[in-house]
Formats: sequence, C-alpha cells, structure tokens
Amino acid sequence: MLNRQTKALYFALTGPFMRLNGFLFRHFRAPRKPGVKVHLGPGRKHYLQGWINVDANMFSGICDVWADLRNPLPFPDATVEAMYSHHVIEHLPDLETHFLEAFRCLKPGGIYRVGGPNGDSAIRKFVDQDLEWFSDFPIKRASIGGRFENFIFCRQEHLTILTQSFLEELMLQAGFRNIRRCLPTKESRAPEIFGDCMKKEDETDFSFPHTLILEGEKPGSPR
Ligand SMILES: C[S@@+](CC[C@H](N)C(=O)[O-])C[C@H]1O[C@@H](n2cnc3c(N)ncnc32)[C@H](O)[C@@H]1O
Repeated sequence: MLNRQTKALYFALTGPFMRLNGFLFRHFRAPRKPGVKVHLGPGRKHYLQGWINVDANMFSGICDVWADLRNPLPFPDATVEAMYSHHVIEHLPDLETHFLEAFRCLKPGGIYRVGGPNGDSAIRKFVDQDLEWFSDFPIKRASIGGRFENFIFCRQEHLTILTQSFLEELMLQAGFRNIRRCLPTKESRAPEIFGDCMKKEDETDFSFPHTLILEGEKPGSPR
C-alpha cells in the first residue's frame, strides 16, 4: 500500500496522462453497444472478465482503462448498463460529484452497486468493544480505538466514513432511486449481472457486515 505522500506524488506525476487517457477513451474508444458493464478500482485481485475495469494505480491495478476516478468518468452519457465499485469510493475526495458522474454514465434502468467499509457496523462494534470484529490492518494495533481508527481511516488512505444514510443521501441527490442495502456476497437486485462481483466480495459477519453495499437504479425505461 502506498503511503499518503507517495500516493500524492504518484497522482501528481501521472495526472496529465490519466486525464488525457480518460478523455480519449470517453470520446473515441468507449463502447456504445448494449450491455456495457464498468468496474471501478479493481486493484490486483478483483479484475472482472467481461467488465471494463478502470483503475489509476499502475503498480497495484490490473485493468482495461487507466483513469483517475477523481476526473470525469471515461464513459459517454447513458452508455453503461451496470457499474460496480468495492472499497474504492472512500478514497475519493468528492462523493457528490462521483455519484453524479456514475448517474450520468448509466443508461436509464442501469444499476450502480457500490460498497466500502461499513461505518454503521464499525461504530456499533466499537461501542460493544468487540476487538475481534476489527483487524489490525494496515497497522498493528492492540486497542479497540487503534483498530477502529485503522478501519475508518486506513492510514489516512480513506477520506470519509461510509454509513447507509449518508450513501443513500448522496445517491438520492444524484438522482438514483430504488436504493437498497445488500448483504455482501449474498444479495443483489440483479444477480444475473452482479453475480461475478459478489463472488469476489468477502464477508465473515452477516449480522454486522464489514462492507456496506448499496444498489441504486437510474430511473427510466428498463435496461
Ligand atoms: C482498497 S483497493 C480495492 C480493490 C478492490 N476493489 C477490492 O475490493 O479489493 C482501492 C482501489 O481503488 C483504486 N483507486 C483509488 N483511488 C483511485 C482513483 N482516484 N482513481 C482510480 N482508481 C483509484 C486503487 O488503485 C485500488 O485499486
């Protein structure tokens, strides 16, 4: 994992390339055929076959399009049937803009499945003093407070805390409707689309999931 300074330097150096590459892809290469599925931030292990995988980290990412998700997403308006991101948006500085961009790219009837560290579960488990619920990643911490800090801020890699009501508010504000919370690995309103994504999600606690996942739909005629 890159530390914050290295990451800032990396993004500063690659910024112009990422912006240009995203722009060129959006305007000249992005498919406009039916059934386009987009996976944001696959990292090394979560590459999805049959999806357009987008990432910015050339050291740890394996993807189809190099683009910085802080820029406009590299897809034309209303061309994407399904979008997926898992433990990515908490790294982004402007979630209002992110959800507006996801909404812009989706076709009417398209769905965004989005997940990240579950702030609601973490707060409950912190209050319950459940040390075992938390891991000692990325920094070895023995205390509940230290582990809570690890989970929420992840060595300052995470810029926000994701709770269900906050994500719902952001998604509603961007125009999404029929927003539902889904259990990681188990639930989706469209398992025929998100089945492969769900297989890569890992969860050990289905009462207090570590990952908060919501799916929201862009209103309009069906996909
Ligand atoms: C914690 S990893 C999650 C990887 C994978 N989705 C998973 O669930 O294991 C975060 C991923 O988001 C990517 N990411 C973070 N900020 C990004 C940005 N501004 N632009 C593009 N990708 C970004 C990172 O490169 C990394 O691959």
